[in-house]
Amino acid sequence: MDGNGRWAARRGLDRSRGHHAGAGAVRKVVESAVARGTDVLTLYAFSADNWHRPRREVAALMRLFERYLIDEAKRCVVCGIRVSVIGRRDRLGRSLVQAIEHVEARTREGRAMYLRLAVDYSARAAILRTALRLKSRQGIEAAEFLARMNGVIHCSRTVPPVDLLIRTGGERRLSDFLLWECAYAELVFSDRLWPDFNDRDLDAALLEFDRRDRRFGSVGQSSRPLQTAT
Ligand code: FPP
Repeated sequence: MDGNGRWAARRGLDRSRGHHAGAGAVRKVVESAVARGTDVLTLYAFSADNWHRPRREVAALMRLFERYLIDEAKRCVVCGIRVSVIGRRDRLGRSLVQAIEHVEARTREGRAMYLRLAVDYSARAAILRTALRLKSRQGIEAAEFLARMNGVIHCSRTVPPVDLLIRTGGERRLSDFLLWECAYAELVFSDRLWPDFNDRDLDAALLEFDRRDRRFGSVGQSSRPLQTAT
């Protein structure tokens, strides 16, 4: 979800105002993803490296996440959206962790879509922690490794690998996001700044995904998106 800072700068506003506008885009995109039959949507809200940002910006983001979880819990229950926050929790504030636990408990029965917000998330750290836990094992299948890794990052439901990864704001990197899960993901890069990302952009990304010939190392096969990551 790149581009909040630039969106704000272009309007002469503080970066935190851009993040607020970004939260508005999150609400709309979640709604649109449900309407389009997405099974799993993972949003990269805060990476482990984002702690290096100015303290004021980090604090504003943490407040925003907490507010979002508190405000959206009821709507997610009504819409049947199950919510998890993936990543480390031991560096988050107490009230944010409480809000996370509250929304996860309230939405546990949701079946319409599984929404995962990645906060204090690092794919490399998750892979390393999982590998360390499994070091005494002789062998392991990729699917079981993923299930174990989900445990490490507080993901409470089995999720398939990512089918489509959308990155906004003109960046063309993975930035330590779902590296294992994206082994065969289709990558779509949008120049749109995240607060401006809308249904047309989402549909354009889905159309682009549909056009791709997914071979998974074989000689030809196509499939609908199962899991989207932004
Ligand atoms: C990265 O780009 C964006 C973030 C680190 C924050 C993402 C947060 C939100 C979209 C806020 C709302 C989220 C939730 C889950 C309620 P940047 O904004 O630093 O972009 P820049 O490259 O323009 O500086």
